Amino acid sequence: MIEATFTEAETSAQNRPVLAVCAACSAQTALAGRDSAGKRLIDRLREQTDALGISVRAVPCFAVCDRPVTLAFMTAGKWSYVIGDVDPEIELSEIVAAVDAIAAAPSGVPALSQRPDFFRKGVIARLPPVAMTADGNDGSD
Ligand code: FES
Repeated sequence: MIEATFTEAETSAQNRPVLAVCAACSAQTALAGRDSAGKRLIDRLREQTDALGISVRAVPCFAVCDRPVTLAFMTAGKWSYVIGDVDPEIELSEIVAAVDAIAAAPSGVPALSQRPDFFRKGVIARLPPVAMTADGNDGSD
């Protein structure tokens, strides 16, 4: 079963983003009997969740199916990012670097120079925090 909800503790723990990964990305092109690219990435991340220090959730689809693998970084009170074209065999240290950069940025928007390559090149969307005011001020930076 795919769980796509997040506890408050997950999104606020050390102000680090929760990483959500599409489990269905490239499922149609996966060889018979093999997992989708998204599922492979999720499995790799979950094998090392404690060591990596990140919280990983599988989601059924981000509706960005032409940009596999698609994932999102979401933090309570900060901007969220949807990122596509992530190689399922990516060095997991790059994902940790992205989590660290987002966690270190007060608004959740790290400088381009702080973003690993997949993050710089793959942004599909940036979503404001729910608490953003009507004038676009998120109250952080
Ligand atoms: S299948 Fe991954 S975003 Fe739709």
